[in-house]
Amino acid sequence: MKADIVVENISSLVTLEGDNKPRTGNEMGNVGLIEDGIIAISDDKIIYVGKGKLPQDIQIDNETKIINGEGKTVTPGLIDPHTHLVHGGSRENELDMKLKGMKYLDILEAGGGILSTVRSTKEASFDDLYNKAKNSLDKMLELGMTTVEAKSGYGLDTETEMKQLRVAKKLNEDHPIDVVSTFMGAHAIPKEYKDNVDGFIDIIINDMLPKVSKENLAEFCDVFCEEGVFSVDQTRKILNEAKKYGMKPKIHADEIEPLGGAELAAEVEAVSADHLVAASEKGMEMMADKGVIADLLPGTCLNLKIGKMAKARKMIELGIPVALSTDYNPGSSPTENIQLIMYLAGLKMNMTPEEVITAVTINAACSVDRQKEIGSLEEGKKADIAIFNAPNIAYIMYHFGINHIDKVIKNGKIVVEEGKVKKSQII
Ligand code: NIG
Ligand code: FE
Repeated sequence: MKADIVVENISSLVTLEGDNKPRTGNEMGNVGLIEDGIIAISDDKIIYVGKGKLPQDIQIDNETKIINGEGKTVTPGLIDPHTHLVHGGSRENELDMKLKGMKYLDILEAGGGILSTVRSTKEASFDDLYNKAKNSLDKMLELGMTTVEAKSGYGLDTETEMKQLRVAKKLNEDHPIDVVSTFMGAHAIPKEYKDNVDGFIDIIINDMLPKVSKENLAEFCDVFCEEGVFSVDQTRKILNEAKKYGMKPKIHADEIEPLGGAELAAEVEAVSADHLVAASEKGMEMMADKGVIADLLPGTCLNLKIGKMAKARKMIELGIPVALSTDYNPGSSPTENIQLIMYLAGLKMNMTPEEVITAVTINAACSVDRQKEIGSLEEGKKADIAIFNAPNIAYIMYHFGINHIDKVIKNGKIVVEEGKVKKSQII
């Protein structure tokens, strides 16, 4: 077979080779590292991964693009399984309140926070939302991300929720990054339903879910299960309805208060439970038992000044597969930078560089149910590849606050060169 692209002499080729299942415990530390690695691509697929030279049956000719991987680390394209990509406006006005000690849930209770972004998102046109989210996707691509999950939840009415999801769908078609959509109509309680939460849940169940499903706009359904937002019973009800439409459950669980979100995630067999800063020991054990992925979001803890992080070490010990995300959104985590999140996961949650890479590749792929196509560098998988100007993965996390990407290959095409999106990719 003829190779279109070959990356050779790779100092650290991090393959994540193994089965297409979420990695737990010690497996999270085994990243299938090959020193002096080589990888060959034909069309949009990986056709060879190994050490040293290519085998005889893989041909190269003068059309083959040869990339020198000396001094570089090559990993699967990074995957972010939890973002609120599509939204209007920004919330830098909350910084001052936060610095004066006002809490996240109090800002929300006062009609700010998520509800302020709901107002901006309702006002924004399809094109406004598209252009803003596209800009973020470009940044994400330059940081090595090739697949990103995107939630709705800044509409809280059927029309605006669908507008957000349609933007995500169009970006999935237009942009090199694959965008995986999640319906999150239950992200906050609109002011007018403050005293009638069940009325709002009726709209989610009887209007939003059927319409979102009919237009095939979401693969997952997520709920913000939190004190003063949606209770465990309300979350259960919404997710069980969503399942009837084939939407797979995710939960914003135990982010601030220990409400029992982790336990519920195990009960409804959610694909992931996210945040989990306040998750109970019992809840974590139940998640381990059911194989629910913990999507951890250390950037959010830092930015909300929560003062603690999710217990990643405990989760890994218990056998919970851990993934990591930016939680990119205009309030609790206004950053697209997964490399910064990787740094925080190491320094603030004591995850090793190997565990961190596992968490942003194969485990993140499992969290968006794409593990058969992406998340590891193996023959037959999609050629989604990140090439870092770093000799090893520890270096990426050690030298923090900068973008280490040299190139990104998406679907077998070089889309980022010298850390910048190639002009031909700009839509
Ligand atoms: O994951 N916690 C709820 N949702 C988002 C924040 C959204 C916002 O503040 O706009 C989160 O942190
Ligand atoms: Fe979130």
